[in-house]
Amino acid sequence: MALLKILHYPDPRLRTVAKPVNEFDDSLATLVANMAQTMYEAVGIGLAATQVNVHKQVIVMDLSEDHSDLKVFINPVIEQASEQWVTHQEGCLSVPGVFDEVSRPDLIGVRAYDIHGQPFELQAQGLLAVCLQHEMDHLNGKVFVDYLSRLKQGRIKTKMQKAEKLATADSVPPLY
Ligand code: NI
Repeated sequence: MALLKILHYPDPRLRTVAKPVNEFDDSLATLVANMAQTMYEAVGIGLAATQVNVHKQVIVMDLSEDHSDLKVFINPVIEQASEQWVTHQEGCLSVPGVFDEVSRPDLIGVRAYDIHGQPFELQAQGLLAVCLQHEMDHLNGKVFVDYLSRLKQGRIKTKMQKAEKLATADSVPPLY
């Protein structure tokens, strides 16, 4: 297994629309294993392949506290969404240190495939529904920041670019 590099907002590659998975093979299993490891290492509860610069419709998620409930969603589609919307505080591994409120449908019905290519259906509510919609947005090139005001988006961009500059400065090898 290997840790993958997580793209940070406003990296334009986060805007790429992911393609459906056609082959449920070893390379998919490796991608899922690496994504799970990367998510756990980064202390996240969900990760979309888009965030590691792989533009396939693959999501990993684990809402448990002890990494005991890994969920994998391949080619997920929202079949129904409730009229009732709820607001949750969201964060994102691609936008570290930023949290804000986003409103989404409370209850969703999702159809997806597992890692072996078996289709399944799921009714999701609460955190699971929020997380699934957040990750499915990533597959469509969308980030939760897009739901916030232009003013907030501008502030977040500036903050991220400053942090990126600092990180790059740190990684420059010493010159002798
Ligand atoms: Ni995210």
